[in-house]
Amino acid sequence: MTGTTADIGTIETTTTLSGKTALVTGSGRGIGRGIALSLAQAGADVAVADLDHGMAQETAALVEKAGRRSVALHVDVTQTASVTKMVKDVESTLGPLDIASNNAGVIGIYPIEKLTATEWDRVMAVNLRGVFLCTQAEINVMRTRHYGRIVNTASIAGKVGFPGISHYSASKFAVIGFTNAVAKEVATDGITVNALCPGIVGTAMWRGDTGLAEKWKEEAETEEQSWARQVAAFIPQQQAQTPDDMGRLVVYLANAEHVTGQAIAVDGGFSL
Ligand SMILES: NC(=O)c1ccc[n+]([C@@H]2O[C@H](COP(=O)([O-])OP(=O)(O)OC[C@H]3O[C@@H](n4cnc5c(N)ncnc54)[C@H](O)[C@@H]3O)[C@@H](O)[C@H]2O)c1
Repeated sequence: MTGTTADIGTIETTTTLSGKTALVTGSGRGIGRGIALSLAQAGADVAVADLDHGMAQETAALVEKAGRRSVALHVDVTQTASVTKMVKDVESTLGPLDIASNNAGVIGIYPIEKLTATEWDRVMAVNLRGVFLCTQAEINVMRTRHYGRIVNTASIAGKVGFPGISHYSASKFAVIGFTNAVAKEVATDGITVNALCPGIVGTAMWRGDTGLAEKWKEEAETEEQSWARQVAAFIPQQQAQTPDDMGRLVVYLANAEHVTGQAIAVDGGFSL
């Protein structure tokens, strides 16, 4: 293909993931569940991996309801043996791994003077070490077949530092750096590696008893009012994003042969 107009009729686009096997970590709920269902709707069989096996089983049942094969796997992404077993189990149940969304993540809110080394290590272990261990295990099998699509969930907090969540921001900046470097390392192996940067999504991480909306409440504000204020303050489009929005980007990246090393925000303009 030379890219001339005369060649346009010969351009082939792949819009289906039918016949592909995908893995999504942290997909028992929230954004990960949205990604798993988007991949299933695009035709992929999807392995659902989470620390919470009960929630993983719920998502796997939804994938099956969408007409695709699924398996619920218990994984702790911070543990090498657990991650190695996860990838092995995906391949023995669903087939060769084509697409991986390394999405499991945790957050904590501490001003710098209150941030302990233990809390620093907890967040880094899941958000950064977890992404490293999963990416490494996935590349090990993808390289042998010269094909793979990896999408690491970073955050808008990986592009802009946020006060009160400095360790979380640091972990997400690092995910973007890691993604960029590894993408170059495997660029001739048929494997793309990209990062997804969600903006504000109303999952358990942001909403509910333990979410950011509750913890960042101003005096006399309800959780609902705090949420609405944060969405209005941060997002030019004045609307929160959804797990489906994140899933659609992952489906795009799963199809995109020549997009690699990117950190793509789905954030309603938050990072502009
Ligand atoms: N919600 C947002 O607005 C937002 C914004 C930017 C980035 N993100 C990122 O998106 C990802 C998903 O977040 P979410 O909002 O869906 O949060 P969530 O808390 O709803 O889901 C996170 C999932 O990860 C799982 N998990 C946690 N530790 C794990 C471990 N060690 N091993 C395996 N699974 C583990 C949890 O059980 C849970 O199912 C995270 O990486 C998060 O940092 C979220």
